[in-house]
This record gives sequence, structure tokens and C-alpha cells, in this order.
Amino acid sequence: MSQRTFSIIKPDAVKAGHTAAILAEIEKAGFKIVAIKRMSISRAQAEGFYHVHAARPFFGELTEFMSSGPIFPMVLEKDNAIADLRTLMGATDPAKADAGTIRKKFAVSIGENAIHGSDAEDTAAFEIGYFFAGIELK
Ligand code: CMP
Repeated sequence: MSQRTFSIIKPDAVKAGHTAAILAEIEKAGFKIVAIKRMSISRAQAEGFYHVHAARPFFGELTEFMSSGPIFPMVLEKDNAIADLRTLMGATDPAKADAGTIRKKFAVSIGENAIHGSDAEDTAAFEIGYFFAGIELK
């Protein structure tokens, strides 16, 4: 069944000039890009987005990094989008990511790991609303 998920091309990948290559991987894998924009976020916006990780030891590093430069938040659609995007991204730590995955090809480290993808339907709904509230997605 067609499903939507939320993704971000992170500051490390944008800075390194990998945006188009990552979008090509996403389209090649059968995702429709329903919405996308380039923007920078404040530390406070990054903290709001990642609020579920607030108690983690890496929260400061994570929110500083995510507010360090331009990102591309986007909404993606396909059958089984949430799980399929996570497979395409590979493991959080690029050292553990399978060959051929986006993180294996483009990520620098567990923190600077090129791409984010929602992990469940409820988080996808929250994350889409966080970046695309009030925008009609067709
Ligand atoms: P993401 O899918 O965006 O969701 C939470 C992020 O926290 C994750 O990707 C990683 O980039 C980051 N993260 C997870 N573990 C660590 C860690 N040990 N050190 C730094 N960042 C981490």
C-alpha cells in the first residue's frame, strides 16, 4: 500500500555536493518526491525535531550538526516507503552499513550520516508536519 515517509539530506551531504546523487538513488529506488525544499534550521528547531532523543548523550552534537548548514527536508511516497527508505539508507553507522546503501556511499560518521528517514508511521506524520505544515501535498 502506498505510504509516505519523511527524509532529510543532512548538512554533511549537502556541503559535500551529494544532494543530486542522493536524490537520484531515491528516485531509482522507486520513490516519488512529493515535497522538497532547501533550508537551514536553528538549534531550537533541531531540538524540536529530535525531541525524542533529548535524553541521549549525543543530543547536543546532533542538534548542533543539524543546524550547522543547509538541509533538504522532503516527503517521499511509495509502497512500504518507511521500511524501504531505511533499507536504502543503510545502518545509522556507515561503518556497519551494507554495500550499495546511501550511508555506505555518502556518510562520514554515525553523527554525520548523510540522510535521515522516519522510523515509524507516527514519527513520519510528526516529521512531515514539522517541516511541511500547511502545505498541500499532492
Ligand atoms: P537519524 O536517523 O537522523 O536519527 C537520530 C540521529 O542521531 C541519527 O540519525 C544519528 O545521526 C544520530 N546519532 C545516533 N547515534 C549517535 C552517536 N552515538 N553519536 C552521534 N550521533 C548519533
